[in-house]
Amino acid sequence: MCPIATGLNVVLPFHPSGSRVFSTTPLVQLKEFFPRTETRKIVNTETSWRHPVYTSLFTQRFSEKQMRDIQVAHREARDWSDWVALGTVRFLRRSTDFATKYRHPPEKNVQNRADDFVMTERKWLVRFIFLESVAGVPGMVGGMLRHLRSLRRMKRDNRWIETLLEEAFNERMHLLTFLQLAEPGWFMRLMVLGAQGVFFNAFFISYLLSPRTCHRFVGYLEEEAVLTYSRAIEDLEAGKLPKWQDHDAPNVAIQYWNMPEGHRKMKDLLLYIRADEAKHREVNHTLGNLNQKMDPNPYAAIYKDPVDVHPTKGIDNLKPHGWERKDAI
Ligand SMILES: [Fe+2]
Ligand SMILES: [Fe+2]
Repeated sequence: MCPIATGLNVVLPFHPSGSRVFSTTPLVQLKEFFPRTETRKIVNTETSWRHPVYTSLFTQRFSEKQMRDIQVAHREARDWSDWVALGTVRFLRRSTDFATKYRHPPEKNVQNRADDFVMTERKWLVRFIFLESVAGVPGMVGGMLRHLRSLRRMKRDNRWIETLLEEAFNERMHLLTFLQLAEPGWFMRLMVLGAQGVFFNAFFISYLLSPRTCHRFVGYLEEEAVLTYSRAIEDLEAGKLPKWQDHDAPNVAIQYWNMPEGHRKMKDLLLYIRADEAKHREVNHTLGNLNQKMDPNPYAAIYKDPVDVHPTKGIDNLKPHGWERKDAI
């Protein structure tokens, strides 16, 4: 398939033979994709936040089981605001499926599927890169608008801002990770540019009108993200993605997630990313259940009874449908 058709030049940078399997991108160019800024005095830069955000407990006492236990889930819509959020996600899902040429085989007909249904490594990367370039927008818009509201109204924010910005940062790291595996062509860049231009402005206005609906929208979007990564993991484990079978995760990912030795393959990477998406799903469904103006952020809260089960930053206490307000605060 012509790379321009998908807008993506896919590369496997460290293939043992020295040549990349389906690349049209010279290795030299890829090396320069994220050039580190070096100056006369500065060696490197370091983060102000602790990373990774959601799976840090994991890295300390790594348990693959917890990441594997993550389930595809759906929170039923309960009111008109939920229906608006869910309807919008379903519309965007279909548009994105079209744009990224994503078609998963119908369960019943796996044996006789048409070529269009086969998801290759290239097709997955196209989808991941497009999705992640959009997924980093809501947290930044929400955090920015809450920041501005706090300044404008001279009121405290109850610590929502950091959680929203953390989410945006985390999504951007997903994108940067996949960009180590594939370099987008002009068509993909154009699509990302257009999607960001439209989506940023639409989300900005929507968040001003109804932040609760926007958090519900992100909750539903993250349900789709968990589904997408779950299917990719299934395909990988079923041997349908041979080029990723023994492929190392990019260095940027190993550093960001502190991936332990022996767990630094593509499959591990997808498990980490799915865990992040599952946490975004819970966080946003929970925030969508709260009073946007008054309630403190449960993910930054110190609880009176620390033994009582409550929302945490990690994925040890995951609630796919989010925490109800009465249980969270
Ligand atoms: Fe993501
Ligand atoms: Fe996400």
